[in-house]
Amino acid sequence: MKRSIGFFLSILVFWGAAQAETVNVLCSPDLAWCEQLGPAYKAATGNDLEFVRLSSSEALARLRAEAANPTFDVWFGGTGDPHLVAFNEGVTEFYKPSTWDDLLPTLTSAVGETYIPLYTGAIGFVVNEDLLAAEGVPVPHCWADLVDPVYKGLLAMPNPNTSGTAYTIIATLIQLFGEEEAFNMLAQIHQNVAQYTRSGGAVGLLAGRGDVGVAIQFLHDGVKYTKQGFPVTNFSPCEGTGFEIGGISLIKGAPHPEDAKAFIEWALTPEAQMLAAQKGDSFQVQSNKNTPVPPESPDLDSIKLIDYDFETYGSAEVRDAIVARWTNEIFPVPR
Ligand code: F6P
Repeated sequence: MKRSIGFFLSILVFWGAAQAETVNVLCSPDLAWCEQLGPAYKAATGNDLEFVRLSSSEALARLRAEAANPTFDVWFGGTGDPHLVAFNEGVTEFYKPSTWDDLLPTLTSAVGETYIPLYTGAIGFVVNEDLLAAEGVPVPHCWADLVDPVYKGLLAMPNPNTSGTAYTIIATLIQLFGEEEAFNMLAQIHQNVAQYTRSGGAVGLLAGRGDVGVAIQFLHDGVKYTKQGFPVTNFSPCEGTGFEIGGISLIKGAPHPEDAKAFIEWALTPEAQMLAAQKGDSFQVQSNKNTPVPPESPDLDSIKLIDYDFETYGSAEVRDAIVARWTNEIFPVPR
């Protein structure tokens, strides 16, 4: 009997060790990139990876709900503000990768030792110029243009309850114009919005297909649709615009912390980061300074970027209040 229990225990230990080689990833960038991670990680390390794709705000909600009993090891990608909220609430913990000094100093200094920068990119307008011309309306060049009723039914943006892109858009307007004026503009923009999407990336497809004329989203997502042959062009707002420092975080209490760290180490190498543009339809500027910037990526030096206040807009209190205000005051108004 003793021998059979010992045998059974050794099977369990073996099974546990085998299981420990699967890292569970909550993945928030484009699905095409998320799908590349498993095969490439397996080829590079022999280890397995499973992922679930959720938009950034949905991912934060899931991690908050699971905080007492986490099922994920790593949160890969997604906008930076919710990574900061997760860190501030103790849902994630800081892990300093061996590549820390290879990451762009502008990114690491902006977030400090909270989460690890994975990529960066700016918000703008992804425009179907043919559709706007057919409708007889001009291309918008400024945030202030979007409130004009000529754009009724011609705009699309994501919903901040699910999308980190949407929160970045709203936080950008607040930083540019102040909260009251920003909400005044959002109320007028709401009257022009044909559709709020669940993920930030999806709005460009609506513009590409000609369902709307202007998608408000990250400009690197516009590049993806242009490359896929859709008739869309990127414009960056004249007043200036916000940007993300997309993140990668170790989940606090991760079931497989060592595997999580091994995956994070791999994910920050140039070889892993190059996958994004090469096979993942994703054209952000990657955080490792040794990762070549894809030629198609929006040139961030030529875009008027605001001095985005990550500390303020990554605080749980501020973020939750902004999303609640938009949800209560803007979203339910008939249009
Ligand atoms: O599609 C890629 C991307 O735009 C990332 O750059 C960004 O971090 C993420 O999607 C945000 O997605 P969502 O708005 O769906 O949270």
